Amino acid sequence: MSKQPKQIAIYGKGGIGKSTTTSNISAALSDMGYRVMQFGCDPKADSTNTLRDGASIPTILDLLREKKKVDAHEAIFTGYNNIYCVEAGGPAPGVGCAGRGIITAVQLLKQQRVFEELDLDYVIYDVLGDVVCGGFAVPIREGIAQHVFTVTSADFMAIYAANNLFKGIQKYSNAGGALLGGVIANSMVHPYQSEIVDDFVRRTHTQVMQYVPRSITVTQSELGGKTTIEASPQSTQAAIYRQLARRIDEHHQSAVPHPLEPSELRDWAASWADTLVAIESGEVREAVGAGI
Ligand SMILES: Nc1ncnc2c1ncn2[C@@H]1O[C@H](COP(=O)(O)OP(=O)(O)OP(=O)(O)O)[C@@H](O)[C@H]1O
Ligand SMILES: [Mg+2]
Repeated sequence: MSKQPKQIAIYGKGGIGKSTTTSNISAALSDMGYRVMQFGCDPKADSTNTLRDGASIPTILDLLREKKKVDAHEAIFTGYNNIYCVEAGGPAPGVGCAGRGIITAVQLLKQQRVFEELDLDYVIYDVLGDVVCGGFAVPIREGIAQHVFTVTSADFMAIYAANNLFKGIQKYSNAGGALLGGVIANSMVHPYQSEIVDDFVRRTHTQVMQYVPRSITVTQSELGGKTTIEASPQSTQAAIYRQLARRIDEHHQSAVPHPLEPSELRDWAASWADTLVAIESGEVREAVGAGI
């Protein structure tokens, strides 16, 4: 019997760094010798661009709109280090459900037994946005992924989106849905930002997989159409992405997170607002936590 790939979904608020982080994880895992597929689940269909010198690929839903019967291979393109790149695509803007699009796209590959045929070790889903819309919970709900990681910064809206994701995971956990592996703390610049994320994961009973600094190397690499792993393999930032990939590779036990209730989240945010004022005025040293 052929092996089943480890299937991972990366979530996070819009623009938070999901595709950048996912592509660097894919690149690092492929450098470790694994056979990797990156599966973009965003109607923008730009998840895999930095694995392919900035170039876009036709999406599964585009192909299905063009003709009834699509051979899955028509939608699979190779990128850096032979990573298999797939974009689910989406319905025409304002029409239909993006979640159903994801199901259709995954089913096409599963029905044609592509994961087995390609002998994949990893399938990494890069999933748009917010689980407030049931469609985006599809990879969790349908048991498509086994482990979920969320990218967040220390910004409240990003943490709010992560907390919503935790609610979605909790909701479907009894029905065999995916569980949470941990949080990827992105765009860290100041120590207080990692303190905020640390405090959030402590309260929600989860963990930080990696602190990823905001880095100009990422910007330069992206402008050149590449991941940091490919464009700048000797950089500190590439080493950080490699460490994240190793931690994901070693990770096997995901869990149900404990999301904060809306009032708890509000109180938590307010206490941090006070702490930041105190840090700014020199009353409290940075990196001491909110202490609440
Ligand atoms: N650690 C970082 N350092 C510097 N720039 C970063 C970092 N992480 C992400 N970025 C930049 O932030 C921008 C948004 O990143 P990205 O496209 O990966 O986000 P996303 O969550 O996939 O967005 P969307 O929800 O639109 O798909 C990109 O220009 C990317 O280069
Ligand atoms: Mg993206």
